[in-house]
This record gives sequence, C-alpha cells and structure tokens, in this order.
Amino acid sequence: MSFGLGHGRDLDPGDWGMDQKDLPPVDQGKWDPRRWFAHPERRFELEIGSGKGTFLLQQAPLEPMTNFLGMEWTNEFYRYAADRLRRHELANVRMMRANAVEFIRHWCPVGICSVIHLYFSDPWPKTRHHKRRVVQDQSLVDIHAALVQGGELRIVTDHVELWAWYEEHATRNAHLFERIVFDRPASAGEGEVVGTNFERKFRREGRPFHAMTLRRRETAATQGS
Ligand SMILES: C[S@@+](CC[C@H](N)C(=O)[O-])C[C@H]1O[C@@H](n2cnc3c(N)ncnc32)[C@H](O)[C@@H]1O
Repeated sequence: MSFGLGHGRDLDPGDWGMDQKDLPPVDQGKWDPRRWFAHPERRFELEIGSGKGTFLLQQAPLEPMTNFLGMEWTNEFYRYAADRLRRHELANVRMMRANAVEFIRHWCPVGICSVIHLYFSDPWPKTRHHKRRVVQDQSLVDIHAALVQGGELRIVTDHVELWAWYEEHATRNAHLFERIVFDRPASAGEGEVVGTNFERKFRREGRPFHAMTLRRRETAATQGS
C-alpha cells in the first residue's frame, strides 16, 4: 500500500511496471526491454528519472509508433508513474523501477535506443556526491553504446552548476557526441522546454532552463560494427 502520492489509493503498476531486481542476473547477459512491448520492432526511447511520468504521459500518445520506457529508482515515484500510465492504458509506455545508469551499463543491448531523455536530473550539489550524477565519463560511453546510429541524448536542467558539469562532459566526450540544439518535444506546452513536473515547479519560481542534445557520433570502434 502506498499512501503519499496515491492519496490513500493503492498504486498499481500492473503490467506497466517491473523492478530491476526481477531482471536476470547480470552474468546471464543483456536483457532487451523492447521484448516487453506488443511491437518490439518499433522505435525505442528511454527516459532516465521519469519522476511522476508526466513527460511519458504527454509524449507517448503523440508518437504511438514509438515504444517508451521510463526508469525511476524512487519506489514511490515509480509506482505513481506506472499506475498513471496503466490507468491511461498507454500501450507504448512501460516503467521500470531501476537505476538507469546500471541498466544501461549491464543489461541494455547495444544500439537500441533512438533517444535517451534526461530531464531535471538530481544535481547532487555537494562535491562528495558528484559521483551520483547520472552524467559521468563512463555513463556517456555506455549511453553511446546503447544509442542507435545518430541516436540522441537529450538533456534539460535548471541547475547552473549541473549545466556546467554537462558542458564539461560534452566537451571532453566530443569524440563520442556532437552537441546540437535541443528540439522541444511536440508535447511541450506554450513556453515550455519539455513540460515535466519539475520544469513547471521551477518555472513558477522563475528559474531559467538550459538544454542540449548530444548526437551519437560513429567512432573508429563503432564504424563497421
Ligand atoms: C528531480 S527529479 C525529476 C523528475 C522528472 N524528470 C521531472 O522533470 O519532473 C529526478 C528523478 O530522477 C530519479 N533518478 C535519479 N537518478 C536516477 C537513476 N540513476 N535511475 C533512475 N532514476 C533516477 C530520481 O529518483 C528523481 O525522481
């Protein structure tokens, strides 16, 4: 039973949710999340840190030929988002309670994600916590591998220091990614960059936003593979 976000109503992920702990052990190899969808051959996009699932709820109906997987490691948010997507009967969205960084590194097959979305990720401002930030040199290598040719990592933040971190990492990993302009998704409302819950909250506080898209480059290692 989950009381906070469900306001007393039990949140039920049903067939829309699964837990990382139910994945096969890492040493058994990759686990393809596309198998979860009725049409696994379709374009696939992944969101890291979906929170309440608002981006998925808004964008997935506009792209019915794309399968979306949201990843969220906070149980309460995961349950809320999965329950919400289930109640809307969105056939092309699923939620996993998982550490997306671990999933991409250990389970995700190479070359399957057309887009990886990362919106308003936790800034972890203390220096000793920087290692918890999603974007690291290693996670960018893993994200590069998970993306299809020409695939994109799309990033938005309000946090000035985290933005500087993203810029440093984008520059240092320019051999992996070409930095291009962020295109707002079709579901973004007027004046919004993406239209997530955190964006709406921060907008009310008057904070400015920063966004970039990193497009996968083909490297010597990936060319011809
Ligand atoms: C600040 S919230 C933003 C939520 C949503 N994207 C939004 O804009 O409203 C960041 C979320 O990412 C989740 N998160 C952070 N790191 C994660 C990871 N490695 N894997 C999965 N979820 C993660 C947190 O639990 C949190 O719910």
